[in-house]
Amino acid sequence: MAETQSDIEYDIAEPKADSLIHSIRSFGYDLATALADLIDNSITARAKNVWVNFFWDGAFSWISIKDDGIGMTQEELVKAMILGSKNPLLPRPANDLGRFGLGLKTATFSQCKQLTVASKMKERDISVRCWDLDYISNCGQWRLLKKGSNNLESESFEGIEQGTLVVWDKLDRVVDEEAVVDDDRAHDHFLEKAALVKKHLAMVFHRYLEGPNPLKIWFNGKLVSPWNPFLIDQKATELLTVEPLFVNGKRIEVRPYILPHHSKISQEDHLNGAGTKGWNAHQGFYVYRNKRMLVAGDWLGLGFQMEEHYKLARIQIDIPNSLDQEWSIDVKKSKARPPQNIRQDLKRIAKLTRERASNIYRHRGKVVSRTTSTEFIYLWKQSLKHGKVSYKINREHPLIRECSKSNNENQVLESLLRMLEETIPIPMILLNYSEQSDNIKGPFEDEPPKELNAALENSIKALLNQGLTINDIKKRLLAMEPFDLYKEYVIARCEEFEEENT
Ligand SMILES: Nc1ncnc2c1ncn2[C@@H]1O[C@H](COP(=O)(O)OP(=O)(O)OP(=O)(O)O)[C@@H](O)[C@H]1O
Ligand SMILES: [Mg+2]
Repeated sequence: MAETQSDIEYDIAEPKADSLIHSIRSFGYDLATALADLIDNSITARAKNVWVNFFWDGAFSWISIKDDGIGMTQEELVKAMILGSKNPLLPRPANDLGRFGLGLKTATFSQCKQLTVASKMKERDISVRCWDLDYISNCGQWRLLKKGSNNLESESFEGIEQGTLVVWDKLDRVVDEEAVVDDDRAHDHFLEKAALVKKHLAMVFHRYLEGPNPLKIWFNGKLVSPWNPFLIDQKATELLTVEPLFVNGKRIEVRPYILPHHSKISQEDHLNGAGTKGWNAHQGFYVYRNKRMLVAGDWLGLGFQMEEHYKLARIQIDIPNSLDQEWSIDVKKSKARPPQNIRQDLKRIAKLTRERASNIYRHRGKVVSRTTSTEFIYLWKQSLKHGKVSYKINREHPLIRECSKSNNENQVLESLLRMLEETIPIPMILLNYSEQSDNIKGPFEDEPPKELNAALENSIKALLNQGLTINDIKKRLLAMEPFDLYKEYVIARCEEFEEENT
């Protein structure tokens, strides 16, 4: 006979308040991801403004996050303070940034020991509740206090009809417990952490901060400007084909962007494009849940490495919150794993985007014309023999051909070319490239100098000697390194040449 609920024997084994409350401090947030989790709640509560303030007072420093969202009744507030206040399996409205009923508490306790929340709905009184970890440790019970931080009074709801104020005190994970007010180093450290938080918020919420009726985040009184990873305001940014993909019948959108080569944007824009992690670490997929960024550049375990020459590839993916389980969204909202059925598609898109990005990176932003029948002529060629890569000088390059023709001591030239090929300082180049790729000079960089002029003249002559017309020569040169980088210059010189010789 089947067992009924009432037949089952059990003990009630409640978690111990004083131990569990400390264990939940280790979810792995940092200060920035923790504060972002609180702003998620403000956005879900339809806030138009969020005010984040850092107050320095040595060991008693504190942080406040206030919003003008819909607020909570006293009953709702008490519920909100409970760990696991909502069932993660239940569906949520499409614009809800929450999932687990944990964030407010886990994010807070990762950074501090006292959480006070004051909330007010329109035309209602303010309700206050507070968790104090020291107090819970002492009493061993889940006692939610009805009175909160002493700092509540200095932050008020003046001028706003509704909203929620969160105050973090006892910031033991942010400030040293021994820190005194006039310790300049500790103060600077606190300010540095605040600056990092500001950058993180500008990044993860950029789509809320952009566009019509944007959300306003005020950080220590200053409005936060969005950081858009795709540099969409730059003319040279390319958007490749936008693709919809489907998971369980729900739509995901993938938008691959190729960012401009640094020579196409100002130094300031290039610096700004580096974001918080730097150009190299910011390549890959950017996963957004609703408009909130979860992942800021990652190849999502699809088998690709972060490499310097793919750094211009940044791919936006939009997922709805109804696919949280399929994407294995975590409590911190900082990870996402693509579901099995779209991994192949994402790999394909990543491969194409990476190829294109690497082309732009290598050709310094010049688009090599694919419509011309003229094959691109490289001076250097890569060769693979017995699994080993080496670099060879192209003996078919017009200048090389011309030299070997006119040079009677042909073997001397050949020996020189072989020596050059065998002694390329690859380790040194690689090292410089990975450390300061943007400071490596491009071929005849900046102004076409005398040497470029000479190379151009000699190339034109060499090709004339091979019986080509000036028109064909022009096409050849435009498909040849480094002349492809000096298009206008080459065209003008060929035209001059034609005039001189007619
Ligand atoms: N600023 C706020 N304004 C209004 N309601 C809030 C605010 N912050 C929290 N709440 C309420 O408290 C609840 C609990 O918040 P909490 O961040 O712990 O979990 P969640 O947002 O539901 O899920 P997640 O764990 O994924 O963040 C929210 O669902 C919301 O109802
Ligand atoms: Mg939340």
